[in-house]
Amino acid sequence: MQKTHIIGTGSSIPKKILSNNDLEAIVDTSDEWITRRSGIKERRISSKGKKETATDLATQASLKAMEMANVTPESLDMIVVGTVTPDRQFPSTACMVQSELNASNAAAFDVSAGCSGFLYALSVVDNAVRAGTCKTALIIGVERLSTIVNWQDRSTCVLLGDGAGAVVASAKSEQGGILSTHLKSDGNLWDLLYSSYRNGNGRMTGMLQEIDKKPFDLIMDGNPLFKRAVGYLSEIAMEALKHNALSCDDIGLFVPHQANIRIIHGMAKNLHLPMEKVYTNVHKYGNTSSASIPLALDEANREGRLKLGDNVLLVAFGAGLTWASSILRWVM
Ligand code: ACO
Repeated sequence: MQKTHIIGTGSSIPKKILSNNDLEAIVDTSDEWITRRSGIKERRISSKGKKETATDLATQASLKAMEMANVTPESLDMIVVGTVTPDRQFPSTACMVQSELNASNAAAFDVSAGCSGFLYALSVVDNAVRAGTCKTALIIGVERLSTIVNWQDRSTCVLLGDGAGAVVASAKSEQGGILSTHLKSDGNLWDLLYSSYRNGNGRMTGMLQEIDKKPFDLIMDGNPLFKRAVGYLSEIAMEALKHNALSCDDIGLFVPHQANIRIIHGMAKNLHLPMEKVYTNVHKYGNTSSASIPLALDEANREGRLKLGDNVLLVAFGAGLTWASSILRWVM
């Protein structure tokens, strides 16, 4: 059976940095509160007219991943994008990226699974590779959460940001690559994190006027989410370890969804993983939902944190509720 090997990673972030101090001028908050409760210091905010749409960011991340993987657009037979903030309701962001790349042989579609979008997309591709229906794929996570945030709601707007990450996956007969993916959802808890439709949005702060206006807000009940995140993520990580007959000691690098440093610390403690084995960049980007894991994976890869033969544990949790895990054996 063919295995799914990751052979290239890439990412793209908007130029504009919004610091905690900048946010103090927008809502009743402080750098001290945001840092202590979330670990976030700054986030990136996409701007209109600067090639920073979801399609632009996803395409830029993909080009970097394809360059690293040394693959041509024509060789792609699947493009799967995890996102909850596509540029258009339809066609999919994946089809827009396909057009930008001129990847004429690919089947392209989006998956909507909240912050677990990238791991859901990875699982779809891995199953296609194992079934023999996909040889080379692009898997992307991209978000512009700044366009759906209520910039008057201090409990959410300080946590979120924009960005994109991508990986190129290739079918190979050698051992390694994706060892497993586990996906879970609980739709009964949808109302802990959702988008609400409204007519018009006249509430953008002056500073953020250039962002596209969208007729809905992100609504989140942070505290119950926080408690579930630590438990569910620890459980699904343990399930992945057990499935592969691995222990926590066998993990070379843990790359969790970057939502809140306290959630990451809680998981690391439950899994008995020292923080030296945990990759974090939440302080720089905040929570970028579907983009969070591929963005962190690309940074870890380019910083040399991923070593040949390392077992890499990925976990994500988000709206749906959805949560997911994957273990990869690094082969690059
Ligand atoms: N600045 C200052 N005070 C604030 C702010 C702010 N930005 N936001 C909330 N507060 C206040 C609240 O009003 C509350 O005040 P009160 O006690 O007078 O009522 C107080 O701070 C504590 O609020 P809590 O919500 O209880 O704080 P908590 O410790 O739970 O931290 C947080 C809040 C950071 C949102 C946390 O709950 C969290 O990270 N939750 C998980 C969120 C998450 O991971 N969501 C994403 C998963 S899905 C995805 O990634 C999209």
